[in-house]
Formats: sequence, C-alpha cells, structure tokens
Amino acid sequence: MSTYQALWVTETPQFAQKVIERSLDDLPENEVLIRVHYSSLNYKDALSATGNRGVTRQFPHTPGIDAAGVVEQSNVAEFVAGDEVIVTGYDLGMNTYGGLAQYIRVPASWLIKRPSGLSLRESMILGTAGLTAALCVDKLLCAGVVPEDGPVLVTGATGGVGSVAVVLLTKLGFQVTAATGKAEQEGFLRQLGASDVISRAALLEGMDKALLKPKWAGVVDTVGGDLLFNTLKALQPGASAACCGLTAGVDFKGSVLPFILRGVNLLGVDSVELPLVNKASMWDKLSLQWKLDLEALVHEISLTEVPEAIIAMLASQQVGRTLVRID
Ligand SMILES: NC(=O)c1ccc[n+]([C@@H]2O[C@H](COP(=O)([O-])OP(=O)(O)OC[C@H]3O[C@@H](n4cnc5c(N)ncnc54)[C@H](OP(=O)(O)O)[C@@H]3O)[C@@H](O)[C@H]2O)c1
Repeated sequence: MSTYQALWVTETPQFAQKVIERSLDDLPENEVLIRVHYSSLNYKDALSATGNRGVTRQFPHTPGIDAAGVVEQSNVAEFVAGDEVIVTGYDLGMNTYGGLAQYIRVPASWLIKRPSGLSLRESMILGTAGLTAALCVDKLLCAGVVPEDGPVLVTGATGGVGSVAVVLLTKLGFQVTAATGKAEQEGFLRQLGASDVISRAALLEGMDKALLKPKWAGVVDTVGGDLLFNTLKALQPGASAACCGLTAGVDFKGSVLPFILRGVNLLGVDSVELPLVNKASMWDKLSLQWKLDLEALVHEISLTEVPEAIIAMLASQQVGRTLVRID
C-alpha cells in the first residue's frame, strides 16, 4: 500500500477539514512507520484542526496527538514489524503529521510498547486525556492528598481529562465533587462516581474575596482562568491543586494569600513533553493497579466523523472521550 487515508486540514483562507488520500512518501523521514488502528480526540486536536498557530504553525496538516497501532517498518532494533505501540504527545499532530490518519512515521524515542494489560482500543480511550488525568491524580497523591481529607474537586468534569479523573479518583476511594457547565449531565457524572455535582457558576462566586471557606482536599483543574484561582482560595490548609488545562482561559488574576496564609500548593502537569520513561511508567500503572472501566464515557466514531466532533468540542459540548476508529 503506498497511499493512505488522512484527515487533511487546509487554509483557503478559512480552515476546513476533510478526509483525503495521501501518499506514504509524504510522511516525514522518521524511524518507525506505524499502521494506526485507533486515535482519539483531545482539545488540542480541535485547536490544530481550526488553525491555532500555537499548536500547529503550518498548513495543510494532519492533526492527532494520539495514536495506537502496529509497526509496519522500522529502522531501529528496539521496534520490529508487528509490535503494537502507543504514541501520545511530543510533536505528534502538532507540527508532525498526526494520528488522525491510517499511517504515521515517528521517531522511535516517542514510542511505548503496548502494556499487556491494555488493548490498543483501551489505550486510546484513555489517550492523552487519560494519561493527563492520571498524572494529575498522581501529583495530588505525591503531595499527600488522601481520601480521609475530604472532597476532591474536578473542574471541566464532563470533558476528556475531567471525566477520566472522576473515574480514577472514585476508584481510589476519594469523594469527588464534579464541577460542570452542563447541568443536564449531572446523571452522567454521578454514574462515573461523583458524589456531588456543582455548577461552574457556583465556583465563580466570591471572586472579590481574598479567601473562601476551606473546602477542597485537592483539585484536578482542567479549565484554568479565574475558576482555577477561585478554587485555590477554597483549598483546605496545606492542600493541593493540579493544573493542566486552559479551556476557561490562560490568565488568572490572583493573590499570594492562599499560598502564604494556607500553605496551599499549585502543581503543574504536562503530559506532552514528559520524559518517555515517566510516560511508560504511568501507562503501566493504567494497565494494572489503575486499570479503569471507561465504557460509560466513550463515544466511538470513524475518521470521516471527526470534523463534526471537532465543532462540538470547540462549542464546549464534549462529554467523555471520543475514540476514533481508523479502519
Ligand atoms: N497539560 C497537559 O499536558 C494537557 C494534556 C491534555 C489536555 N490538556 C488541556 O486540558 C484541557 C481539557 O482537555 P480535554 O481534552 O479534556 O478537553 P475537552 O474534552 O474538550 O473538555 C474540556 C471541558 O472543559 C469545560 N469547558 C469548556 N469550555 C469552558 C469554559 N469556557 N469555561 C470553563 N470550562 C469550560 C467543559 O466541561 P464542563 O462543561 O463539564 O465544565 C469541557 O467539556 C484543555 O485545555 C487541554 O488543552 C492539557
């Protein structure tokens, strides 16, 4: 096979996405050629597919920061044809043609062999979102957050990172409060394990106050902006918030008071450029002691359905994880 199907984003000057046939010769000259079986949709893919230059500088382009598939050709000894592999993050789907296609060609240094406890499909139900949720929870645990401390808040709870975080925290015995802008998804969030569901608007109350009543033992924040700062003001003394997202904005107006009067911690999470050894260890954990049943939050689509799913994601309509089957 010398051609393959790929999502192709063009700028004419509006950005448009459609599935077209491409030649394998168009792929970059990296070490390992992979036949992709599954990809998934992440917020960053929606940004790339609609021309965000902070994610993708040059168009036309194929987005897709996640891919799971089978090695077809390799120039390195560590990988041979037939190996099942996962790649998330690094430059995949940003300025290297990404996983929303039947083939990718990537450096071997981006690849993880599929852990035996996860199928390729399960690995992409998790994808970057699941890996990020796990890294956020891991940071909270390392900072000493334990279930006995009280409720842990998850913001953007219906989204990919948020929904996996709700399931994982519940599995680990935490009492989870899910914050969402979608009141109609309360049933979904409770089904995932949330014991409380609150509105995004409720979290923005008291913006004018220096501190709020201490409430949260920990926070997984996927949205950023003022909402993040208001949750820091409501952390219990010594508690921690893991910050990974920006859907509510990249800036927040803050003060040092929560840090110096309550000793709270703000913990940054980056799942993209994380060293491969750390990614591999988190994937192992997700395949064993942190193995999750995520069937309740997955929605499976084909490559041709991706453009419509991207529009919904950018309109804040994402609920759970979108798995992309690459036939
Ligand atoms: N640091 C990292 O390594 C890393 C890795 C992966 C993702 N991320 C970031 O994490 C965030 C979530 O990613 P994702 O893939 O889970 O996205 P997603 O599936 O689209 O979910 C985002 C969720 O954020 C909430 N939201 C949307 N617009 C909002 C707004 N204006 N104000 C407040 N909340 C809003 C919505 O949840 P509700 O309606 O339930 O509130 C939405 O479902 C993104 O910013 C992404 O870039 C970072």
